[in-house]
Amino acid sequence: MPGRVILITGANGRLGLAIASSFLSESADARVWLGVRRNRGAAEALASQHPARVSLVDLDVTATAGWSRAVATITAQDGRLDVLVNNAGHHEDGLLANLTDDAWNSVIASNLTGTFLGCRAVMNAMIGQRGGRIVNVSSLSALLAPAGQSNYAAAKAGVVALTQSLAKEIARLGITVNAVCPGFVETEALASLAPEARAAALSKVPMRRFAKPEEIAAVVRFLASPEAAYVTGAVLKADGGIL
Ligand SMILES: NC(=O)c1ccc[n+]([C@@H]2O[C@H](COP(=O)([O-])OP(=O)(O)OC[C@H]3O[C@@H](n4cnc5c(N)ncnc54)[C@H](OP(=O)(O)O)[C@@H]3O)[C@@H](O)[C@H]2O)c1
Repeated sequence: MPGRVILITGANGRLGLAIASSFLSESADARVWLGVRRNRGAAEALASQHPARVSLVDLDVTATAGWSRAVATITAQDGRLDVLVNNAGHHEDGLLANLTDDAWNSVIASNLTGTFLGCRAVMNAMIGQRGGRIVNVSSLSALLAPAGQSNYAAAKAGVVALTQSLAKEIARLGITVNAVCPGFVETEALASLAPEARAAALSKVPMRRFAKPEEIAAVVRFLASPEAAYVTGAVLKADGGIL
């Protein structure tokens, strides 16, 4: 496969790093851009292992101007942009009755508005190339909204709807847009759970284990692959069988 140019947002996080590593193993020519906001140590460590293939780009996904700068930097340097993975996001859980305006607005901004801005920012480049892949990282919470996550579940459900609407708009142009809905993934958030909460979460998973980040990354990479050319508007659950 010829080298492709890939941008992953929120790439200093555990899942973003796993997605980046997965693309790096796909092809020796893959060029991976790691979108970073506050923390960058882990992304810098990955870039230092692959200095010719991995670069960091500053990107707060909630800022329109930041997206313009990031896409301009990438296309100026690499001449194209083949894959966008909208992975950045965060949650601030709480019962709706006590949810602050800030907890609502910031979760909608990072998960949903960030995905909208990202999709819009790459449109010109991908339409010009007559091809591209966008993979939006949603969550099982979009489909099975748990109590205490009204902001996050609404944002991630919005990501699913955005994915399906945009997929129809640009299907004829060879650009696919798909969403992944991970269940519980072994990341820092789960590692910090109290043992009882961890056991309760595990009991909901028919496979009786949490996903490895690499397993979610493999789903992202499939949806972004040339072989997945006929898959668009898909919402792929990767959750160990939770129904
Ligand atoms: N872990 C799970 O179990 C799980 C399950 C389902 C879905 N997901 C989704 O998977 C994605 C990655 O999760 P993760 O577990 O890897 O989370 P994580 O370790 O907390 O990483 C999240 C990343 O997103 C970045 N980010 C947050 N808001 C941002 C913004 N406004 N602009 C740019 N970057 C921003 C963070 O950057 P900073 O360093 O600047 O904070 C961080 O690099 C998220 O969308 C999450 O909702 C995760």
